Amino acid sequence: MSESSGAGGPAEVCAEAPGRVNLLGEHTDYNEGFVLPMPLRQVTRVFAARADGVVEAYAEIFDERVARKIGGPREGTWLDYLVGCVWALAQEGIHLPGARFRIQRGVPPGAGLASSAALEVAVLRALRTLYEIPVDDLRLALIAHRAEVEYVGVRCGVMDQIVASLGRLGQALFLDTRSLECEWVPIPAGYRFEVVDSGVPRRLAEAGYNQRRAECEEAAERLGVRALRDLACGDLERVARLPDPLDRRVRHVITENARVLAGVETLRAGDALTFGRLMVESHRSLVEDFEVSTPELDRLVDLAMEHGALGARLTGAGFGGSVVALVAGKYVR
Ligand code: GLA
Repeated sequence: MSESSGAGGPAEVCAEAPGRVNLLGEHTDYNEGFVLPMPLRQVTRVFAARADGVVEAYAEIFDERVARKIGGPREGTWLDYLVGCVWALAQEGIHLPGARFRIQRGVPPGAGLASSAALEVAVLRALRTLYEIPVDDLRLALIAHRAEVEYVGVRCGVMDQIVASLGRLGQALFLDTRSLECEWVPIPAGYRFEVVDSGVPRRLAEAGYNQRRAECEEAAERLGVRALRDLACGDLERVARLPDPLDRRVRHVITENARVLAGVETLRAGDALTFGRLMVESHRSLVEDFEVSTPELDRLVDLAMEHGALGARLTGAGFGGSVVALVAGKYVR
C-alpha cells in the first residue's frame, strides 16, 4: 500500500496487539468479577492506509482480500471485526471515511487465546495513529469490546480487549471488571507460564458460552443481586438451594473470584507453589461446576502435572482451545 493518505497524517501505519493467556478468573468477567490475564508474545500486526467510503482488507493467513462499504451490515466473516471497529468508533461520535488494511495474524484463531481481541485492538491502534484519534488505551479497549458485542454479535466480557490494550509483557494484569481498575503484577522470578493448544477448535459464539452467561444472569436474578460478583463464600449455603446446575455455576464464580484475589497475593509474595495449587482448583471447578472442559483439555492438564508443572488449567472460555501450565525455569525467547 503506497498511495498517499490525502490531507495530513501518515500514508501507512503499522500497529500490533497481543493475544492473552488467562492465569486465573475464568467466566468471571461477565459476572463483574476479577480476572488475571497476561499478554502473550504472539501479536497480530496490522498495516493501514486511508481510504474513502470503504473498509478493505487483505489477510495473509487466509490469502484473501475483501471489502465492504462503510455502514455496511455484519456478514458473518472475519471482515466483521474490522468494519465493527470503524462502526464502534462512529457510535462514539468518531466518523472515519474508511481504511485499507493488511493483516498478519500472529495469534492463532480458535485456540482460546483471544485472537479476535488482538485483531480489534491492533486495528483500532492503527486507526488511532492513522487518523490521530484522541482515545486512551482503556477507551480503545472498550471500543474494541463494543465492536465485538454489538457489531460482530459475540456477548463476551471485557477481559480480552483490556489485556490486549493495557497488558505489559511478563506481568499479569489484575483487573476488576466492575470498576475497571487495573494493577500489573510481576510473575515470580524463576517461573514461567507455558501455553499448550489442544488443537480442538472452539467457536465462542456457539460453544455454550451464551448459555453459561444466561445461567449466571438467571441465578443472579433469583438471588436478588445485580451480578454474581456481589456474592461471597458466606453465601454458598443460600446458593446450594438453587436448582442444579445453577447452584454449581454460581459456586464456580464465587470460588473463582476468591481464587483470583488469593492468586494476586501469592504472586506478590512470590509463592509460585500456592499459585499452582489455585490453578488446579480452578480447573477442577471449571470441570465439575462450570462444565466447560473437554477430555483433551483434562488430559493436557494431567500430563502437565505428571511432568512437574506446579499448576495447570484450561484457559479462556473452554470447550476446546488451550491449557496454561506454571513451570519452573526462565522464559526462552
Ligand atoms: C472468552 C471471553 C472473555 C471471558 C472468557 C472466559 O475469552 O471473550 O470475555 O468471558 O471467555 O473467562
